[in-house]
Amino acid sequence: MLHTVPHGDINYGELAQLGLTPDDIIDFSANSNPFGPHPTVLEAIRAAVTVPKLRHYPDRDCLELRQAIALTEDIDPRFILPTNGANELIQLVALAFIKPGSRHLILSPTFGEYERAIRVMGGHVQPYFATGSYYRHDIAHVVSVIRQTQPATVWLCNPNNPTGQYLTPAELAELRASAQEETLWVIDESYQYFSGFEESLGRRAIAHHHNENIIVMRSLTKEHGLAGLRLGFAIATPERIEQLRVAQPAWSVNSLAQVAGVAALQPEVQAEQRRNIRQLLAYASTWWAELIATGLRVLPTSTSYTLIETGPAARTRQALLESRLLVRDCSSFGLPNHIRVAAQLPEQNRQLIEALNRIGKTDKGLT
Ligand SMILES: Cc1ncc(COP(=O)(O)O)c(C=O)c1O
Repeated sequence: MLHTVPHGDINYGELAQLGLTPDDIIDFSANSNPFGPHPTVLEAIRAAVTVPKLRHYPDRDCLELRQAIALTEDIDPRFILPTNGANELIQLVALAFIKPGSRHLILSPTFGEYERAIRVMGGHVQPYFATGSYYRHDIAHVVSVIRQTQPATVWLCNPNNPTGQYLTPAELAELRASAQEETLWVIDESYQYFSGFEESLGRRAIAHHHNENIIVMRSLTKEHGLAGLRLGFAIATPERIEQLRVAQPAWSVNSLAQVAGVAALQPEVQAEQRRNIRQLLAYASTWWAELIATGLRVLPTSTSYTLIETGPAARTRQALLESRLLVRDCSSFGLPNHIRVAAQLPEQNRQLIEALNRIGKTDKGLT
């Protein structure tokens, strides 16, 4: 039986039932850039709200956006496919490449959409739950699983959601060497700029060695604070891009998202957002230390988000929501005693510490 995937972020119906609006809460549950979209991007969107722009269909080929992405990635535009968020791309990869009855490995705990997309296409999912400390993968063990099972595809998120763990280039190379040559590697780098490591592990293999068996997934919604607009892209060889394009509905990247993407990728805009995210990572590391000092079990992370072991997570989430603070209950990741929190601005981060302390004292959520 297939189910929709639970996500963090705002549940509009739940808030309405509580008599709240999104403006009433602080959202620690979505891992994105709390500084929001850059003013240049907002201005570009405003300027694009014209009758011709809205009346006509968007450019199906996203020519200008593709070109802008290709320039920032230093790659030929034929290697790029813009999508309606990285989430559309996950579905396209499954539509294009998952055959009924085939076997697929997902390095877990991780984003739930991979499993759903594979199962919708009739593929068999073999989740491989991390066995190392802090849900880091024991590479030797993953290698042995790949050798034994020889999956048709391997899905991994780097840095990972929800753990914030990062696989190094050497670790990824070791994993890839253990698989058959035709295994397709689906590497989700949606949080690439939210860790101290900005290197793309797949891009080089695709750009320089034309490796057919890697698809890199990127999101522009997180880094540029554009989750409501939806924008992501694939990096893969032109042959793979063409297969993904066949699976993609026409016009799925709307005109305003295309305009926003082009504005966001201007070098000075991009540089400023990267500075903001580096600032966010600095806020995050101060915050982890403060949270740990209150006695909480905060797991090490390479990103601006992390797991905290609080005891029953659904209860902790509910209790925090009463204080108008939203966190991710990680039960759907297979971590029912953990919440995931993403750093916000320092004043907001302090409010979560205070609320967690209050809850701890009244035993509403923390065990
Ligand atoms: C790992 C991962 N990949 C992809 C997505 C989807 O991103 P987008 O907003 O670009 O569709 C998310 C969203 O939370 C995510 O966590």
